[in-house]
Amino acid sequence: MRILVTGGTGYIGSHTCVQLLEQGDEVVIVDNLSNSKESVVSAIEKITGKRPVFYRADILDREALDTIFYTHKIDAVIHFAGLKAVGESVAKPLEYYHNNITGTLTLLDVMREHGCFKIVFSSSATVYGTPASVPIREDFPTGGTTNPYGTTKLYLERILSDLYVSDKRWSVVLLRYFNPIGAHESCLIGDNPNGIPNNLMPYVTRVAKGTLPKLCIYGNDYPTHDGTGVRDFIHVEDLAAGHIAVVNKMADSGVKVYNLGTGVGYSVLDLVQAFERSTGIKIPYEITDRRPGDIAECWSDPAKAERELGWRAKHTLEEMCRSAWNFEKAN
Ligand code: NAD
Ligand code: UD1
Repeated sequence: MRILVTGGTGYIGSHTCVQLLEQGDEVVIVDNLSNSKESVVSAIEKITGKRPVFYRADILDREALDTIFYTHKIDAVIHFAGLKAVGESVAKPLEYYHNNITGTLTLLDVMREHGCFKIVFSSSATVYGTPASVPIREDFPTGGTTNPYGTTKLYLERILSDLYVSDKRWSVVLLRYFNPIGAHESCLIGDNPNGIPNNLMPYVTRVAKGTLPKLCIYGNDYPTHDGTGVRDFIHVEDLAAGHIAVVNKMADSGVKVYNLGTGVGYSVLDLVQAFERSTGIKIPYEITDRRPGDIAECWSDPAKAERELGWRAKHTLEEMCRSAWNFEKAN
């Protein structure tokens, strides 16, 4: 298949491009490099021995998309491109709604014009808001998002579902990711946020490296086994493999929703301890106030993806920690 990967030089997109190329698919990447570097294209080539076609372009740029669809007969789109910083989205809602929603509307319109009706969309566990219980199943209610970033995911899920209602030629897969961490074993691609990281794992690896003095753990008074927040950390390679399973089984028509998680919840302290065990490095930390908008527990029931796609996450928390650390050291 020839697959257009929007946001393909980003963290999850790059790992997915590697696996697509490894199984023999043709990959065309479109990315405006707002949160990634062109050197990732060469890294993907180094890992796979195949160079994906790369367009530095914005998904808001209709003409650029039109040229891409005209030049390449695209069979399906995996749509990663989007802005994803929760705090920044609160400060810049218009930028987030414009980039993520208008960008996706533009993409969908161009796809339709060119007769391409298959799309896999990067959604997030954030669409469940504060779940009534865990583990979270796909049929749990969505809504109650606490920031514009999360709301873009919620709205886009709705828009994509409406599209199918209007025209049964569409095949839409909504993938709700839990917490991806870790990096490719080559250490050539991984999560490399600019500035001070917001997410837990890149913060931990920078403390390990000595770039940051200590980790602040946001609250130890949650109703969890040790009081710290519980999440479903998933190796980015497993997450990428989930996309491969989806693409290989994609129906001709319909809307499907899958959680991509491990089905196991680990606390912030569990992760710190697993990191220490697997790397031998001590992580100094301090307990601080809760972070606004955080929930106590968020972890998946991934049974539907296993049942319908034959996919399940394989890597242990220690493996995730080790690969994240190896990537940090190498970069
Ligand atoms: P990322 O920032 O590393 O990758 C996104 C890529 O999209 C970047 O390379 C960026 O340059 C590009 N991009 C952004 N806006 C664009 C535009 N208008 N036109 C073209 N390119 C554009 O993020 P990621 O972690 O790889 O996430 C990929 C997707 O998965 C995002 O949609 C994100 O919201 C979603 N997601 C991520 C997580 C996570 O924890 N990383 C969790 C849930 C959902
Ligand atoms: C966050 C976003 C989510 C987004 C995801 C990926 C919120 C509320 N949710 O998920 O929408 O899809 O990132 O971008 O922001 N923690 C610390 N210290 C730190 C960093 C984090 O204790 O320095 C804790 C958090 O309180 C949380 C856990 O670690 O309990 C995981 O945090 P994080 O990695 O930011 O992910 P989420 O908040 O789950």
